[in-house]
Amino acid sequence: MTDNDTYDLSWDEWDELVRPTEEETEFDRVVASGLSRRGFLSGLVAFGSGAAVMGLGTGASLLNSTAVQAAGRFGFTPVGVATDATVHVPEGYTWDILVKWGDKLFSDAADFDHVTGGDLATSDRVFGENTDGMELFAIGDKQIIAVNSEYVNPKLNLPQNQDGKPTSADDVLKLQNLQGVTVMEVAEEGGDWHVVVDSPFNRRITHNTPMKISGPAAGHDLLKTDADPSGTESLGTYNNCGAGKTPWGTYLTCEENFNGYFGSTDADLELPADFKRYGIGVESRYDYEKFDARFDISKNINEPRRAGYIVEIDPANPDATPVKRTALGRFKHENAACTVARDGRVIVYMGDDERGEFLYKFVSNGVYVPGASTDGLLDEGTLYVAKFSDDGNGEWLALTEETTGMSQAEICIYSRLAASKVGATTMDRPEWVAVNPVAVEAYCALTNNKNRGVKTNAGGDETPVGGPNPREKNNYGQIVRWYPENDDHVSSSFKWDLFVMAGNPDVHGDSPYAGSSNINSGNMFNSPDGMMFDTSGLLWIQTDGDYKNEGDFAGMGNNQMLVGDPATGQIERFMTVPYGAEVTGITWSADKRTLFVGIQHPAAPFPDGEGKLARSCVVAVKRSDNAMIG
Ligand code: FEO
Ligand code: CA
Ligand code: CA
Repeated sequence: MTDNDTYDLSWDEWDELVRPTEEETEFDRVVASGLSRRGFLSGLVAFGSGAAVMGLGTGASLLNSTAVQAAGRFGFTPVGVATDATVHVPEGYTWDILVKWGDKLFSDAADFDHVTGGDLATSDRVFGENTDGMELFAIGDKQIIAVNSEYVNPKLNLPQNQDGKPTSADDVLKLQNLQGVTVMEVAEEGGDWHVVVDSPFNRRITHNTPMKISGPAAGHDLLKTDADPSGTESLGTYNNCGAGKTPWGTYLTCEENFNGYFGSTDADLELPADFKRYGIGVESRYDYEKFDARFDISKNINEPRRAGYIVEIDPANPDATPVKRTALGRFKHENAACTVARDGRVIVYMGDDERGEFLYKFVSNGVYVPGASTDGLLDEGTLYVAKFSDDGNGEWLALTEETTGMSQAEICIYSRLAASKVGATTMDRPEWVAVNPVAVEAYCALTNNKNRGVKTNAGGDETPVGGPNPREKNNYGQIVRWYPENDDHVSSSFKWDLFVMAGNPDVHGDSPYAGSSNINSGNMFNSPDGMMFDTSGLLWIQTDGDYKNEGDFAGMGNNQMLVGDPATGQIERFMTVPYGAEVTGITWSADKRTLFVGIQHPAAPFPDGEGKLARSCVVAVKRSDNAMIG
């Protein structure tokens, strides 16, 4: 293996390759226990399953009777699978590109150059690479989109280098500038959307932007560095994956695979115990440490402990310093789904996207009062982690000094270790969480987990087959849904079921790998990832899966976006994206007549044609009759 080869791997694959977890010793016991069947037999798959098809349930008939009534809710004719290099939306809809990696946010930026992959000097004044989570904010009569740039594709970003490998501090700076967050004003003229170049709202936040650290871990010794002896002022936000929006109109950007940016110029460096759990080692993904000492853990052992948080950004104030909210925990944050409980306390649901990691909930101490100060709402509260029982019940376990034996600051810095101590349920890679706006329930996409029932997580916690993770070597993924007790999101207990188990009924017949009964030949997909509810309560589901369209994935085609109806379980395909791409990030214009969707890491010739660099982008989808979409 060489560093260069690893650029072709996903982050998940890279982590597994560089720092693999050990084989679980009791695999045979786990499989033999039969837990893999229990989820189906007890009816916890809301819309049936392979087991239902075998006569153990009536999910299929439920779906058939309600699907007819629900057909009108979707308002579109589903699209088929695609294997080509473009975007497809239903008949009666149009799509257009809003912005591509390298497009100008400011008029003094250089034009994009397909030979160089863009100018270094103005690389922090253009739209970033690998678009991901986003939110639109209506500020006065302006529309502002805040959008993540998760990571880089060095072979495209540094195309003149051998295999894209950074060879200088300038190369590293360019990569750092292309990631983080873009804040940009957008406007529609004659049905076409564009970025308002030079808008005073436009802003780039990169791997070098000053951040403030707040909450229980701020100022802790573990967060102090030579450059910041206070432990409260860091630089940069990393691997910004999914996102969230607070009730008070700020943007939450979520640091996911931050571990890969740190490495050691001393190959023999002895690593602290917590580094293993977070996948931090001597080998980095992009060689930052060779040219920027801040990322060299042999010189700055605490720097990685200042990453892995949720960062709050005020899109209305380009001068505001982003704030790392340590109370929301430190792990590989996917997104942040906020809601306000009946008594006004703020709830933030969060997934930790790694095989066998956990699902979290933050509950604020204070209450949100519109117009009143929101100071402290994301700094003071309790972090919980989910424990699912096989019988359809679950509980939120509080991470406190009493339950973990750790200080409040340590819980925030070593959240994974705290969650392991209380016995949380190891999950099949929790990706986005979405809260239903018209029912008291929430959903989490469990994208896949080839290690389910095979390996422990990096902390040695077993990953038994069962509950909401019912299939060993889970290659398709599922979406778990929970209903808080008493219809109150602050409740510490809940009921759960599976909204859908993805699968392939054409390949797997009546086995659990065929998926639940709301999956059929016409709507197959794998690896649910991005998820967002529209205002009507329909769930938009985006995939980041295997797009080879062969073997277990035959008939699924390119990655796609689907719409699900929570009431009926009906799921239909709305959109397909170009070969190679995942679809990630979704938000709506203020009038809900435009849907913005992110297309990450497409393969050429998308979008600029043969011989050009592939560029991630955000597209604007509209109905031809300009009616509302969701
Ligand atoms: Fe960045 Fe888990 O997706
Ligand atoms: Ca994702
Ligand atoms: Ca993913």
